[in-house]
Amino acid sequence: MTLPVTDYPALWLRDNCSCADCVAPGTEQKLHGITDLAPDTRIARIEEDEDAVVVVFAPDDHRSRFTHAWLAAHRLDSALADNRAEDAKQLWQAADLADSIPAGSWPEFQQEPIERAAGLEALLSQGFFLLRGVPVTDGAVLAVAESFGYVRRTNYGELFEVRVEDQPTNLAFSSLPITPHTDNPYRDPVPTIQLLHCLVNAADGGDSGLVDGFAAAALLRAADPAAFDLLARTPVTFRYADVATELSATRPLIGLDPVGRIREIRFNNRSMRPIALPADQIAAFYAAYRRFAEILYSAEAQLTFRLEPGDCVVFDNTRVLHARTGFRAGGPRHLQGCYADLDGAYSELAVLRRGSIETKGAAR
Ligand code: OGA
Ligand code: ZN
Ligand code: ZN
Repeated sequence: MTLPVTDYPALWLRDNCSCADCVAPGTEQKLHGITDLAPDTRIARIEEDEDAVVVVFAPDDHRSRFTHAWLAAHRLDSALADNRAEDAKQLWQAADLADSIPAGSWPEFQQEPIERAAGLEALLSQGFFLLRGVPVTDGAVLAVAESFGYVRRTNYGELFEVRVEDQPTNLAFSSLPITPHTDNPYRDPVPTIQLLHCLVNAADGGDSGLVDGFAAAALLRAADPAAFDLLARTPVTFRYADVATELSATRPLIGLDPVGRIREIRFNNRSMRPIALPADQIAAFYAAYRRFAEILYSAEAQLTFRLEPGDCVVFDNTRVLHARTGFRAGGPRHLQGCYADLDGAYSELAVLRRGSIETKGAAR
C-alpha cells in the first residue's frame, strides 16, 4: 500500500524530481539547489496511472513523475536511517560470541564475493571479523585493507609495527598489558577501521581482547542514565606527541547522533589529557568515567582470544575496543597494523549486493 502523493509536501516532491532537467542523466546528481526552487511551490494538478503519479507544480509548471515504488521507498515516517548508529548494529557481550567468532579465510575472502560480503556484514553489524590464512609476510595487512577499502596513511606510515621497542613512544610498542581502548582518539576524523595482522606470537602472554563499546554504553545508559549523559556531553581532549608529530582532538567519550543514539566511542586512558570542567563537576565526571570503564573492563564484556601467525582481525574503531595482555619482555611477538575507513567497507558491501549475490546474512 502506498501513501497518496498529497501526503508528501510539494516542495519536497519538487526537489526530488528525477527528470533529465533536474538530475544529470546517468548520475544521481541534482542539477538544482534549494534557492532555484520557488518557496511557494505547490501542487497544481495530479495525474495518476497504474505505476506512477505525475505531479504538475505551480508556479513553475514543472512536470514530475514519481513511481509508486519510489514513493513507498521514501516514506516520510520511515526510521531515521544511519547505518553507523546503535540500532543498525547487533550488540554483543563476550558470551554471545565466545563460540562463534565471525571468522573466515583470507584466500576465500579475496576470491569469493559471498565470503567477502559475509566478512563485511560481520564488521558492520557485530563490529569485527577475523581472517585466517593471511600470509605471514611484511605488508600483507595492506592487501587485506585494500581488498575492501582504502588504507588510511598516518604519521605512523601506511602500516605500523607492533613489537617491543627500546624506547617506545606508544605503550603498544612495549610488552606491557594494554586495557581496552580505541585507537588514535587524538585524530579527527578518527580512523574508523583498524586491522591487526599477527606475524609472530610466541610470547608467553600477548592474548587479545575485544569489547563492544556500544553494548557497554547501552548498559551504562540503563544502569546510570545521568552518568551516560555526562559522558555524552563532556568534551575530552586526547593527544599524541613525539619528535615529529603533535596531534589532538576534543570529543566526548560517547558520541551520539542528532537523535541521541550511540554512534561513536572514543576511549583511551593513555592519550586522555587533563579534563577541563568546573571544579564542582570533576567528581561526577570521574565517577561516570569509572563506571563506564568498569563495564568495558569486565570479564562479561571482553571477548578474549589469541592471534596466531596468519590471523588478521579487522574491527570498527568507532565501536569495538581492543586490548592485549602483557607478555614476557623479549618474547617474540610481532603484529603489523593499519587503518582504513568504514565508508569504503559499506561501499564494497553495497556493490557486492548489487551483483545480486546471495549474502550469508541476507535471510536475517
Ligand atoms: C595497537 C594495539 C594490541 C596488541 O597496536 O593499537 O593496541 O595486541 N595493539 O599488541
Ligand atoms: Zn524535473
Ligand atoms: Zn591499539
